[in-house]
Amino acid sequence: MDSGRKFWFQAGWLAVGLLSACCGLPTEPKALPGEVQDVYDSLWTNNLDVAEQTLATPFLQHMQFGDLQADDYVSFMIQDINYLLNVTDLLKEMVQKVKSPDDLKTFMEKRYQSYKQFADLMLTQFNLNSLPDIKPIPAMEKYLADYKAIMEKEKPIFFAVSLLPCSRLWIWLANQLKETYGNAYFVWKKNNMHGNPEKHYRALLNKYLKTPDKLKRANQIFRQQMQNEKNFFSASLQE
Ligand SMILES: *[C@@H]1O[C@H](CO)[C@@H](O)[C@H](O)[C@H]1NC(C)=O
Repeated sequence: MDSGRKFWFQAGWLAVGLLSACCGLPTEPKALPGEVQDVYDSLWTNNLDVAEQTLATPFLQHMQFGDLQADDYVSFMIQDINYLLNVTDLLKEMVQKVKSPDDLKTFMEKRYQSYKQFADLMLTQFNLNSLPDIKPIPAMEKYLADYKAIMEKEKPIFFAVSLLPCSRLWIWLANQLKETYGNAYFVWKKNNMHGNPEKHYRALLNKYLKTPDKLKRANQIFRQQMQNEKNFFSASLQE
């Protein structure tokens, strides 16, 4: 959920700035035969099963069908605001923490600015003063606790890995949903469909995740965060 939870923002300029927070290109280049697939691509393709499971959750299926109850959507959005504010806070800490190398430092700064800009906009949009005291549902609490643990226990590059599932998944989901303008949730689809996480992540991950050990850990963290995303959607509508 990268920042990229911006369904209600209609203005194009907002979409351009905000989508970068949690979004990716729907079409990805494929590795040619004999070519080594890059980390950015393989993390996604290795965990596509979790993406498919997320798409199949009742919450997203009812969203697609157009009969998701408005109350369930509101609860989901409140949790998502909490996610956004909390991850913005973690990124702020990462900016303090990562002094070098330059590209990783710049990555953290840019992600922080993007999340912060989106978080501020979200607060403005809902007329919320300062930080709302939102109680996370268990699925969200675990997701945020996992982010924090990664921040505290792992090398900073793995925090970058932990942010990527949200970015890529939401774009993929929005592109998979078959909805037309008449669907009440069409704006969610439209505003999450576009984005370019590749620009921020691909070169960085390929550069710093080269050894088998690092690749293995990256895949574990990526999968864990994909599952946290899935659990959040699952918990948002239980049938
Ligand atoms: C972020 O979420 C975690 C887990 O729910 C919580 O312990 C922490 O206090 C939250 N941080 C902020 C700044 O809200």
